[in-house]
Amino acid sequence: PAPGWNITADVVVVGSGVAGLTAALRCEAAGLTTVVVTKARLDDGSTRWAQGGIAAALGEGDTPEQHLDDTLVAGAGLCDEDAVRILVTEGPAAVRRLIETGAHFDESEEGGLELAREGGHHRRRIAHAGGDATGAEISRALVEAVRARGLRTIENALVLDLLTDAAGRTAGVTLHVMGEGQHDGVGAVHAPAVVLATGGMGQVFSATTNPSVSTGDGVALALRAGAEVSDLEFVQFHPTVLFLGADAEGQQPLVSEAVRGEGAHLVDADGVRFMVGQHELAELAPRDIVAKGITRRMQEQDAEHMFLDARHFGADMWEHRFPTILAACRVHGIDPVTEPVPVAPAAHYASGGVRTDSHGRTTVPGLYACGEVACTGVHGANRLASNSLLEGLVYAERIVTDIVSSRTDDGLHARVPVPVEHPEKPAHPLLAAEARFAIQRIMTDGAGVLRSADSLERAAGQLVRLHAEARDALDENGKTAEPGVDTWEATNLLCVARVLVAAARQREETRGCHWREDHADRDDANWRRHIVVRLNPDRT
Ligand code: SIN
Repeated sequence: PAPGWNITADVVVVGSGVAGLTAALRCEAAGLTTVVVTKARLDDGSTRWAQGGIAAALGEGDTPEQHLDDTLVAGAGLCDEDAVRILVTEGPAAVRRLIETGAHFDESEEGGLELAREGGHHRRRIAHAGGDATGAEISRALVEAVRARGLRTIENALVLDLLTDAAGRTAGVTLHVMGEGQHDGVGAVHAPAVVLATGGMGQVFSATTNPSVSTGDGVALALRAGAEVSDLEFVQFHPTVLFLGADAEGQQPLVSEAVRGEGAHLVDADGVRFMVGQHELAELAPRDIVAKGITRRMQEQDAEHMFLDARHFGADMWEHRFPTILAACRVHGIDPVTEPVPVAPAAHYASGGVRTDSHGRTTVPGLYACGEVACTGVHGANRLASNSLLEGLVYAERIVTDIVSSRTDDGLHARVPVPVEHPEKPAHPLLAAEARFAIQRIMTDGAGVLRSADSLERAAGQLVRLHAEARDALDENGKTAEPGVDTWEATNLLCVARVLVAAARQREETRGCHWREDHADRDDANWRRHIVVRLNPDRT
């Protein structure tokens, strides 16, 4: 549909987690007219759910070089070392600026930041807030700052597509907005710089730690706009997600790595600590290794979950250090103070995303990406725990530096967008809302924690059928389902799922969080490289 309302700005930021709001605040501070658009409320994204914290070399004796080493090891040979170096060297100052913006982190009795450990880190370097409610505090501080500075925000605004000018440069975005008064319905923000900070795509699987809004909207938009996307096969499964039954669907409660960082043990159905001997760091091995260790032992014991045993923490420590997790367990009738917690891996983080350079620039001029939607190269084949909030901060700031430096004397003038064309049979027909559940089941069954050529081929075929059904259902007006948030989300999920499966089929090796049972080893000779995808905009 043609936009019913139009706004003009220097920059439009899409998404309101740590990356989006940091970018927006810095843009505003640099004097750029900035509009933040977000799919639900300002604090409804993934950031709010982050527990463990934010990693940075802030502790005595720690250095960016050591943080770099741990990040590279976790990334299993596919990190971009320059991108990681930027992350770890600029990270400590970025965290301090976040504190200046208003975020309060937990402090030790001596007065400095209290730092924790998580999987893959050889040092205590994770700053946290409210014990295990770090994301909630960061989100609170950033939302408050955005409100205090009067930034223009539009909530309940689902981004649809990128607008470009005749030269193919970014010219803004179209949006579908519900319940926001003068900006209801389909509209457009015209801006020569668009910052995608839409978060992840965990909802492509049945069970995930991600909130329901994580439907890959930014990656799907970028694909439709012809931008390059990289490393989508590297979906990180968090090892310890509270097990609520084999049929549990949607967002599941996380049990932070930090619980293992404080000394919790992973035990099997017989009470045996099965990670000991598998890796020098045992339960604190990088996340992919722990997730694989748990999955293997579940298979060996024909069990649906393993256990995390932290009874030895005692009630005081549980209450003060992990109040969020304690409450979530108790809501589900489990008391970690007196019993081991049932846990199993669930989809958690997209290590890949929209490919960017070291200033967050995508391959479409004027389109930037930061946070989980982006693939800056810092995560490689497996993200190191608690590097994601840091990446959002650091790369959001770098994007703003780039936007400011590319500003011309007469300001960032919005370019005239080319009218959006509506082919009779669009390449990405809208899916019915219920398709979301079919996609989740297909992906969980065929492209989950353990994959094979057969399972991926099956998933690819089923996804193609879903797409074909939607195309067949197009009536003569070129309309399938009723346009709305649910139908666009399902459409975006299908788009990213198809690319994810295609990449996972291609990568015939096991590396990082991509685990192929038919190619059990890492194959550096053939696969120490990235799978980069760019859709032909007319492709179906
Ligand atoms: C956690 O608290 O375990 C999550 C940390 C992360 O995903 O980086």
